[in-house]
Amino acid sequence: MTQCGDATDAIDTPALVIDLDAMQRNLQRMAAFASDRNLRLRPHAKMHKSAIIAKLQIEAGAVGVCVQKVEEAESLAAGGVHDIFISNEVIAPHKLARLAALAKRIRIAVAVDSELGVQRLAQALQCAGATADCFVEVDVGQGRCGVAPAAAGALALQVTAAGLHLAGLQAYHGTAQHLRTAAQSGAAIETAVALARAAQASLLAAGLVCPLVTGAGTGSFEFEAASGVFGELQCGSYLFMDRDYAENQVSPGAPRFEHALFVKSQVMSRAVSHAVIDAGHKAYAVDSGPPRVWGRELEFAGCSDEHGVLRARGDALPELGESIWLVPGHCDPTVNLHDRYVVVRGGLAHGQVEALWRVDARGAMA
Ligand SMILES: Cc1ncc(COP(=O)(O)O)c(C=O)c1O
Repeated sequence: MTQCGDATDAIDTPALVIDLDAMQRNLQRMAAFASDRNLRLRPHAKMHKSAIIAKLQIEAGAVGVCVQKVEEAESLAAGGVHDIFISNEVIAPHKLARLAALAKRIRIAVAVDSELGVQRLAQALQCAGATADCFVEVDVGQGRCGVAPAAAGALALQVTAAGLHLAGLQAYHGTAQHLRTAAQSGAAIETAVALARAAQASLLAAGLVCPLVTGAGTGSFEFEAASGVFGELQCGSYLFMDRDYAENQVSPGAPRFEHALFVKSQVMSRAVSHAVIDAGHKAYAVDSGPPRVWGRELEFAGCSDEHGVLRARGDALPELGESIWLVPGHCDPTVNLHDRYVVVRGGLAHGQVEALWRVDARGAMA
């Protein structure tokens, strides 16, 4: 069993490991980027699901965090996080009752994109004697949740008529995040910005001012930040930087983020043609492609539930028992596979375990 003070070599495998030095550099870089531009930073905690990490982000200047689920908000609130935006729609009355109960204890915001959602939210808050901030979500190109920009004013009027506090618009463009070139993501966000402006105009035509536009992710934030429309950034993955995000071109002037999340594995079987590691689908997600072997020229040739297969590329195959560090393809669902983080200070090769942190909001979450 891995313990604080252990050398990285001794970390039992498979393990979800944070390189704390790299994570703190990422945290400071994004905090500085936002504060230099007078933008609010509200990082997405659906990625790390950890109250400790959320509080580190808030200490570094974030106004609070985002989550996607009521239960995620409950888990982080239990860990001492006091300002949480559920950047998602909540429709089920029993979930709204829990949201309202939480809103009596901490500051809560939530997104809406339907009249029914507004009515049920207002009813739940009224029953509990609670208040919450309400963001009208606008579909700015992703084709997921959100109303059309021209319909934002009418829904915002329903928000205010229901006695809810209109906090602004959510305009998040998810499919713009993984476009590979800066030109592609810049063009996608140009369209998103125009749609967010149209939604602001729709509010204005309804006689309402829009206090804030919130959105953006790790693959596009520099464009939302430069738009003059967005006042708050919701990036999440910048903190850990998975393999998929590292394949995006970084635009000039945007901060660079380092890999800070790894899965440690070890070679458990060795053939002439390949080596087998003790980490497969149950240790990392492959929805955004396979993990990358870190620091070694080895090909990740495939995986099954508990195994990964490596082949030689530039480097020779590793020996039995050797440690292999993997950079996950997608950090969010990889984190969700683990109960805890092993937090390392001093680098992967020669560092030691400084802490063990729970993945507080692990699971599908209601
Ligand atoms: C509503 C919302 N905001 C922000 C993000 C930020 O994501 P990322 O981790 O890509 O920075 C996401 C990610 O899916 C999201 O759904």
